[in-house]
Amino acid sequence: MTYPVARPRRLRRTPALRRLVAETRLHAADLVLPMFVKDELTEPVPLTSMPGVLQHTRDSLRRAAAEAVAAGVGGLMVFGIPARRDAVGTAATDPDGILNVALADLAAEVGGDTVLMADLCLDEFTDHGHCGVLAADGSVDNDATLLRYRDMALAQAAAGADLVGTSGMMDGQVAAVRDALDGAGHLDTGVFAYAAKYASAFYGPFREAVDSALQGDRRTYQQDPANRRESAREVALDVAEGADLVMVKPAMSYLDVLSDTVAAVDVPVAAYQVSGEYAMISAAAERGWIDRDRAITESLLGIRRAGAQIVLTYWATEVATRLQAEGAA
Ligand code: PBG
Repeated sequence: MTYPVARPRRLRRTPALRRLVAETRLHAADLVLPMFVKDELTEPVPLTSMPGVLQHTRDSLRRAAAEAVAAGVGGLMVFGIPARRDAVGTAATDPDGILNVALADLAAEVGGDTVLMADLCLDEFTDHGHCGVLAADGSVDNDATLLRYRDMALAQAAAGADLVGTSGMMDGQVAAVRDALDGAGHLDTGVFAYAAKYASAFYGPFREAVDSALQGDRRTYQQDPANRRESAREVALDVAEGADLVMVKPAMSYLDVLSDTVAAVDVPVAAYQVSGEYAMISAAAERGWIDRDRAITESLLGIRRAGAQIVLTYWATEVATRLQAEGAA
């Protein structure tokens, strides 16, 4: 009998040993909660494809935000659903538009205690559901869209957003938004760039969450899931244009891209565990096919282990609350 020279199992023997040698930990402060607020809503509406997630009223949004902040969540990412849509997404730039008033509500309610972020994209606001305005031939007009993004950034900054989340995948959007913000004196409003963002099937439930009107798809502006090196280019462009943080999205199917991004840049890197990732785990857990809490934790650890410093997840409040209870937050 020869004895194994190395016994990795030694360090796995007790919970205390495993805790000591854990390489990755979850912290509430690293989690960001995406939230939906809908105009002219009187009661919050539960989303069937995202059990536990709501379309909020302005009031319920405030309460849910306060709850998230009390649990120690690091930031909030707000999405607005207007009552009326048009071709250019007027409600996105209207100071009285739902997203902007909701940001102002949250700035007043929890502003000093958390990082307030806004999705900067037109798809929730346009009647055709695309992330930009359309040219005469029906294609998404990149540069005309940049003008709308500039105004949208100004409205969100004025409403109190700390960071604007450029998520439309138009070329030059970070530079355009940075220039608009600086020109209006919003020097301290940061750009949280959805830098590597794929045309993903995992956004499916999000379409319900924002009552999306989209026909067709976003493949002429979001990235092809087949591509890895292309993300390096997208990320480098966003950083060169002035992105303060960059994001990879979705998360779980793009951990290679995430890992590449972390190695390539010196700004903070986030990953977005999107609606379909949430829905998959929720649905399998509902059927008793996987252990819900363990699967949630493992998915978030995987995203953190791949290098994301910040994770956007619809479970942010729940996980933060659990961490608080465990005394690990
Ligand atoms: C664009 C945006 C989308 C998501 C976040 N920002 C939709 C899309 O790009 O099609 C998806 C988020 C999710 O699925 O959880 N406004």
